[in-house]
Amino acid sequence: MPVITTIADLKRLHKRRTPKMFYDYAESGSWTEQTFRENTSDFDQIRFKQRVAVDMTNRNTASQMIGQNVAMPVALAPVGLTGMQCADGEIKAARAAEKFGVPFTLSTMSICSIEDVAENTTNPFWFQVYTLKDDDFMKRLFDRARAAKCSAIVITLDLQIMGQRHKDLKNGLSAPPKFTAASIADLATKWGWGIEMLQTRRRFFGNIVGHAQGVTDPSSLASWIAEAFDHALDWDRVAQLMKMWDGPVILKGIMDADDARKAAELGADAIIVSNHGGRQLDGALSSIRALPAIMDAVGDKVEVHLDSGIRSGQDVLKALAMGAKGTYIGRAFVNGLGAMGEKGVTSALEVIHKELDLTMALCGRRDVNTLDKDILLIPQGFEGQWQ
Ligand SMILES: Cc1cc2nc3c(=O)[nH]c(=O)nc-3n(C[C@H](O)[C@H](O)[C@H](O)COP(=O)(O)O)c2cc1C
Repeated sequence: MPVITTIADLKRLHKRRTPKMFYDYAESGSWTEQTFRENTSDFDQIRFKQRVAVDMTNRNTASQMIGQNVAMPVALAPVGLTGMQCADGEIKAARAAEKFGVPFTLSTMSICSIEDVAENTTNPFWFQVYTLKDDDFMKRLFDRARAAKCSAIVITLDLQIMGQRHKDLKNGLSAPPKFTAASIADLATKWGWGIEMLQTRRRFFGNIVGHAQGVTDPSSLASWIAEAFDHALDWDRVAQLMKMWDGPVILKGIMDADDARKAAELGADAIIVSNHGGRQLDGALSSIRALPAIMDAVGDKVEVHLDSGIRSGQDVLKALAMGAKGTYIGRAFVNGLGAMGEKGVTSALEVIHKELDLTMALCGRRDVNTLDKDILLIPQGFEGQWQ
């Protein structure tokens, strides 16, 4: 059993164990990957103030996200094809999240279906919704999420069309993988992954196949998105979907103060400052840089969450200190899952929790609910002078 002390340890194991097309799918951003890189490097620019002789006893990382109790304000982000990083991946990740006491968000583009996850967990989870043209399909999707007792939906607003990720095109990404000379040669070295995958029936898009009509190639993420996603999505449609769900809603992909105001006006329970982990608009600001302007615009009107670039508990602490009430990890938990299945996701959560707790203490604070910018050293002009 390897000694895991960082998310980077899990990432190395993930790369070794998982077919290249799925590892690359996770570890890439769109086009030049500038935003993907800056999501993490901008976190590194922020430093902490070291404080001493402060009582460190009785620390608390428990908090709430949209009124739900969490062991730490770190949810698992919706990640498509999670069940290709590891057999039954969504079920394993959801179980790890449940045991740890943090929310799990199931993607529309998951391999395990809503029903699969509900049958194999006990706590309610969150369901992420991509907006599709087919209204009947959307209604059925909401009915299925309700029947599975999902306690919130996350509507993703930044992907009606897909940003191009060069590696996915070059690797011929599909679920399950198509057999080509390159994929066979790669799979031959990933036999542990292959054996587990042969033992599960969950190898297709579980929420889609058998539920949506008019999809010519359901194994291809790119062609499916091009055919089925609603390119006409606007704020009226968002309002309509919120009404259709009639329960807690989180709006994901907000990077602009005006969009944040609009989301708050619609009555969202929370917004997620997110650039989809640098996978959509390459050249967008990192989410941590976009956060201050959004906090100024709506911080007192709606709960603000953040994702994109979080690889450590220190990153979580920085986002919380800058005003976010909750955070999400995408690749950090996927690295754990690809490395060691459910145990790996638990390991990722443990690493992040320990880093968050100890760093908070060394900053002289004891409670994640009372953090503020005073613990940070933010470089002058961090937000940038843009016109
Ligand atoms: C492999 C992968 C697949 C993703 N699939 C989805 C998805 O299906 N729906 C969605 O809303 N976001 C999706 N995202 C974006 C994540 O929800 C989240 O915004 C992002 O991963 C955060 O950045 P991080 O990976 O740096 O933590 C995906 C991200 C990755 C890495």
